[in-house]
Amino acid sequence: MPLVRTGDLVSAAVAEGRGVAAFNVITLEHAEAIAAGAESADSPAILQISENAVAFHGGRLAPVAAAAAAVARASSAPLALHLDHVTSPALLEAAREEGFGSIMFDASKLSYDDNVRRTNEVVRFGLRHGIWVEAELGRVGGKEGETPLDAHTPGVRTDPEEAAAYVAATGVNALAVAVGSSHAMTERTATLDHALVSRLRDAVPVPLVLHGSSGVPDAEIRAAVAAGMVKINVGTALNTAYTGAVRAFLAAETAAVDPRKYLVPAREAMAGTVADFLGLLRAPRR
Ligand code: G3H
Ligand code: ZN
Repeated sequence: MPLVRTGDLVSAAVAEGRGVAAFNVITLEHAEAIAAGAESADSPAILQISENAVAFHGGRLAPVAAAAAAVARASSAPLALHLDHVTSPALLEAAREEGFGSIMFDASKLSYDDNVRRTNEVVRFGLRHGIWVEAELGRVGGKEGETPLDAHTPGVRTDPEEAAAYVAATGVNALAVAVGSSHAMTERTATLDHALVSRLRDAVPVPLVLHGSSGVPDAEIRAAVAAGMVKINVGTALNTAYTGAVRAFLAAETAAVDPRKYLVPAREAMAGTVADFLGLLRAPRR
């Protein structure tokens, strides 16, 4: 079916009191697995390409975006395409050229005032070009190359009053908040501050986004959605499934050389992970 828009999927999730998942695409197999998982779970999903993934593809957005969009259009599931953790102005321009309908602009490492100023510029860019903009306040932490943050340190988490002021000042369409998750966790051991999620939901007039969801156990994700979290971002869990399947295959088949032999189980493992996360988000929030 035709691509759907991230903003529409998020609005529908809010209206229906459930969450919507966004999965990171690195390779063609990731995109195919997300589509297969969404089809088997009979759920919508968002395919998101991060600035780091674009860097992996030589800094070129067009090839990976075209592949992900083609996979999404060929799927029977409602799928949207999103650009994630953008910091570079050149990538914003590339997103416009490639027809992205949504981006996450990440100024979370800047001071509050600089974050507001830069994000507001991006929101105005988005308004000119019909692009839905997510931004981050607080520090989810754990992104590649950055000093790991303790997600439970006061000051790292998002303050509800500051979040309300930030949304009013920037005009963002959705807000990524720091409530106890951290990027790139390979074990699902994070505990979230659900009382803070509820306070943020009450204070902030736009949908809330949970980053670093790979490290969050099923029950914590369900509780976060029940408390008001809407967009659930998952990346590392797909890579854990992919690499685990490749590792197991090559350990058993030491003479194998055809990548299709191990990419089939890798893709199937990722599709299973996608379907599992989507299954968590189906239940009504309240
Ligand atoms: O923006 C992407 C997500 O926050 C993914 O985080 O790789 O820890 O699941 P994760
Ligand atoms: Zn993230």
